[in-house]
Amino acid sequence: MIPANVIEDIRTRNDVEDVISSYVTLKRAGKNLKGLCPFHSEKTPSFVVYGDTQSFYCFGCGAGGDVISFIMRQENLDYVSAIDFLAKRAGITLPDFDSKTEKAGTSRARVLQMNVEAAKFYRNMLFDDKIGANARKYLINKRELTSAVVKTFGIGYAPAGYRSLRDHLKGLGYSYEEMADASLCAKNERGYYDYFRDRVIFPIIDVSGNVVGFGGRAMTDDVKPKYLNSTDSPAFKKTKNLFALNFAKNYSADLMVVCEGYMDAIAIHSAGIKCAVATLGTALTSDHARIIKKYTDHVVLSYDSDEPGQKATERALRSLSEVGIDAKILAIDGGVKDPDEYIKKYGVERFKRLLENSKPKFDFFLDSIKKKYDLSNTDEKIKASSDVCGYIASIYSKVERDVYVAKTAEFLNVDRKSVETDVDNIIRRFRKNEKKKSSGELIRSTSGLSDRVNPDFAKDPYEARLEEDILGMILTYPELLTRKTDGKELSAEDFKTTLGNRLFTFIKDNSGESGFSISLLSSVFSPEEVSRAVKMQIRRREVTNNESTFDEYVKALRRQNDIQKSEESLEDLIAKKKRNKIKYIDGE
Ligand code: CTP
Ligand code: MN
Repeated sequence: MIPANVIEDIRTRNDVEDVISSYVTLKRAGKNLKGLCPFHSEKTPSFVVYGDTQSFYCFGCGAGGDVISFIMRQENLDYVSAIDFLAKRAGITLPDFDSKTEKAGTSRARVLQMNVEAAKFYRNMLFDDKIGANARKYLINKRELTSAVVKTFGIGYAPAGYRSLRDHLKGLGYSYEEMADASLCAKNERGYYDYFRDRVIFPIIDVSGNVVGFGGRAMTDDVKPKYLNSTDSPAFKKTKNLFALNFAKNYSADLMVVCEGYMDAIAIHSAGIKCAVATLGTALTSDHARIIKKYTDHVVLSYDSDEPGQKATERALRSLSEVGIDAKILAIDGGVKDPDEYIKKYGVERFKRLLENSKPKFDFFLDSIKKKYDLSNTDEKIKASSDVCGYIASIYSKVERDVYVAKTAEFLNVDRKSVETDVDNIIRRFRKNEKKKSSGELIRSTSGLSDRVNPDFAKDPYEARLEEDILGMILTYPELLTRKTDGKELSAEDFKTTLGNRLFTFIKDNSGESGFSISLLSSVFSPEEVSRAVKMQIRRREVTNNESTFDEYVKALRRQNDIQKSEESLEDLIAKKKRNKIKYIDGE
């Protein structure tokens, strides 16, 4: 366990406003700061940073916490690594504490060390005269990579054996369990064995230069799957990492090219276009979009020309526009499938021309409509129009919509006014549905029906709400912990919901002279539970005259609990009577 004073030191030297500002653009709103939430997609800011309580809370998605839980979420780190990260940021040297006792499983730091060793090993195997011969032939002859590119990307080779990497890492002092946690080994009934075998290996490196995972490609078509990627580990999350971002981040201010495959990204880089990244066998997620947004506002999507590639393009467009990235689409033609094949067949210059001719997404969309419908047929034209209007209606910006309305009128050869009316009608319908949906959600959440974080809420919503309000006050004014209401301090017995009880007990046990810091919660409670605690706190922060409100709430909670107890004992009494009666009858 990391001592509370160390955590407090780290927290005070990492001001929540400073730290979050380095990730999110925040504007001052009264004494707080406000911005677009980094944890869900939104267009109007509902993410608030509170300098006075050193916390943050999103009124849209409910994510909340302090500077440590922010870093845990944002950098995808566990508690200990987040503290480590913030200590480094503030220039604090941490005392050595045993990270093993902190958390079961292998730490991110350990996985990263192992990955570096694995990357070295794979690279050495590739350049081993005998073992790597076939793989070198594949990369240089078949894939036409120069040895400079092979070296830049740190490409390697995983030998065919089942124990090559395993035994190597064992020799370096890593356990099989750790290797499995890092997704470098897998396990079956006969034991642990190498996860990547007889594949060329692409290390996946994050923007800080950590080797977070690997992709491995089979060298012949008969081996399935063609690509094998690291499974998610304490260091790696497929939906959050982008291949080659470590290179591209410095060249992307004007433009980033996003493609589907490792080899595509490598081919584009080899062509001297250094701003290319690839997703790793997944669609482009909103996490990816938010990461990209840190580096650029302009993206060109260079996906495969096949049907899945086109579907993926549409999805990616949506994720990118959610974060306000302007995306264009590069259309691969010439009978080849992807950028890699295109560059090989037609050369760099022609690819650059394709890149320059990338089309804005709406033109691309109209192209797809043209392919889908026969516009000389009246019925089909109406369907096409309704597709296009629906698309335009989903766009947030009025200016953008106006531009598209004009384009559509021209494209379908119809009156501009009618396109506009159709779009407006769809928008009105959207809004009505939205309103219905959100009032439904409100009812559900206040009645606690969908409460996963505090599952007891539904059983006794009134008591649960009282508990949450009381905890919210304690979190803001820890001195209330020792306040006597009707001559008695609050105690764990007063809290009936599991979450309320756990929170109270933890706060009570971990409050020192200087009060309680919500930073401590993250060591024990889940991110959702921490968010909930912050929500409780925020709900109470505007309350003045806390002492009498507090007393009132505590009394109400105790009264409720007494009523419940007496109801229970009444039931007991009746049950006892029934039993006695039976005895009596029996005895007769
Ligand atoms: N991919 C994957 N698992 C597979 C197939 C593909 O993870 N079984 C991912 C890889 O990241 C791959 C990308 O999807 O780079 C694109 O796949 P695909 O278009 O099939 O392959 P190419 O990129 O064209 O690969 P190559 O040129 O090596 O054949
Ligand atoms: Mn390819």
